[in-house]
Amino acid sequence: MEGNSSGEPAADQLMTTTSRHQFGDDPDEPAVAISVIENMKEEYGLFVWPCSIVLAEYVWQQRLRFSGATVVELGAGTSLPGLVAAKVGAHVTLTDDANKLEVLDNMRRVCHLNKLHCNILGLTWGVWDASIFTLCPRIILGADVLYDNDAFDDLFATVTFLLQNSPGSVFITTYHNRSGHHHIEFLMVKWGLKCVKLLDGLSFMPPCKVSGLSGNLQLAEISLSNEVAEPTVSH
Ligand SMILES: C[S@@+](CC[C@H](N)C(=O)[O-])C[C@H]1O[C@@H](n2cnc3c(N)ncnc32)[C@H](O)[C@@H]1O
Repeated sequence: MEGNSSGEPAADQLMTTTSRHQFGDDPDEPAVAISVIENMKEEYGLFVWPCSIVLAEYVWQQRLRFSGATVVELGAGTSLPGLVAAKVGAHVTLTDDANKLEVLDNMRRVCHLNKLHCNILGLTWGVWDASIFTLCPRIILGADVLYDNDAFDDLFATVTFLLQNSPGSVFITTYHNRSGHHHIEFLMVKWGLKCVKLLDGLSFMPPCKVSGLSGNLQLAEISLSNEVAEPTVSH
């Protein structure tokens, strides 16, 4: 471990931990394990949020659907769902706010730690940099990206653009349903989207993972309202 001039570990390093996340039926012999570097700073994207644990489990359970798919994760932060998608054979681009260089650097470290090759991209919602025009994801992921009302329109503008850029694609998101669905329903109508699947986030979690989660966590699959949804494959 590197230290400061007195040989002590830097304060930043003291706040860093590595968490391990397992997937599969046998806890003693997990089919997939992902290590995530977290930092207890006041930076949302350096912490594994419960929504990310739920979405990552969903990706694992739907792994046949993800194998070979092109996936973009928005507001990925520590990127657990995208990393599971990469592990099961998806071609993954992990994105976060282009101004959050520390978060983007941490994504690179976490990919390296797990020996996974993902593209890392600064993508700020509602901003049209050239790179967004090259993205044609089959599946867009977003864990806990619906938490700031002021950012909802920018997020939905980006999601709608990506859905339109890749016909037949779907946005899969997990969020805390704190005050009912009216906000999201309003946004879906506004942006020409529809919810094709809505699940209680805890309903498909293995019992060993439920104990660490609380709140009304929801998973929604969202597509363009003028498209017919493809059937989903469960494993
Ligand atoms: C609550 S954290 C969730 C992080 C991760 N998805 C998880 O669930 O652990 C919200 C994430 O959205 C990112 N974010 C916030 N505003 C954004 C914006 N305008 N454009 C892109 N990303 C943004 C943050 O940097 C952060 O990584």
